[in-house]
Amino acid sequence: MKILGELYAGKAKTVLRTDDPDALVLRFRDDATAFDGVKHARLPGKGTVNNKVNAFVMERLERGGIPTHFIRLLSDHESLVRRLDMIPVECVVRNLAAGSLCKRLGVEEGRELDPPVFEFFLKNDELHDPMINESHIRTFRWATEEEVARMKALTLQANAILKPLFQEAGLLLVDYKLEFGRFHGQVLLGDEFTPDGCRLWDAESRRKLDKDLFRHDLGDLMQAYHEVAHRLGVPL
Ligand code: TMP
Ligand code: ASP
Repeated sequence: MKILGELYAGKAKTVLRTDDPDALVLRFRDDATAFDGVKHARLPGKGTVNNKVNAFVMERLERGGIPTHFIRLLSDHESLVRRLDMIPVECVVRNLAAGSLCKRLGVEEGRELDPPVFEFFLKNDELHDPMINESHIRTFRWATEEEVARMKALTLQANAILKPLFQEAGLLLVDYKLEFGRFHGQVLLGDEFTPDGCRLWDAESRRKLDKDLFRHDLGDLMQAYHEVAHRLGVPL
């Protein structure tokens, strides 16, 4: 497999083409961004931790029956994935209230959400990823009804795998965001699962161990990400 040119550079990852038209390389960079790129920093080592935590989680999800784009780790900061036609919709599940839910609904942070809340957001930085519903997705043809149902089912199914996985590591999975894409007619989980795109709190103290540390200057992001990897048993 040969790595060809850059296809797209996101806020924390660069996507590269390969000589296999069905495969791409995800290069996890040492960039941290928040508030749609307004806040930015370079944090040495972040790309490697995220690449390895992502590989670990993707493999667990795959084993649990969630079809993903992940193929294999290529290097410290690169992974090989299937090339998806991405659906521009973000699927969020919340087990505990935090972030935009608290702001939007005036709910107290940390309140347990039973059943978990499911939300769709439009993937669009310029519009600040607005919350959308199934009616918007249908009318604007962002996904078919079948794809919507599949994304929702897979995102909730992932919760049943991930909640206990993090719980065993002494971590509360507060909320997370998943993105999906099409691959030869099938809906696969794409993008990444890292502490950049979820909230993780220490189960005892409720200390934050995710990107909220960076968003709100609450502590050392890299120390927290290393702790998450260590607790999950992910070798770095
Ligand atoms: P929120 O509280 O900002 O709506 O985010 C909920 C969860 O989803 C949180 O873990 C962060 C993640 N998320 C992203 O990583 N990127 C996004 O664009 C959005 C909307 C959410
Ligand atoms: N889309 C936002 C950003 O990364 C979400 C966040 O604040 O993490 O800028």
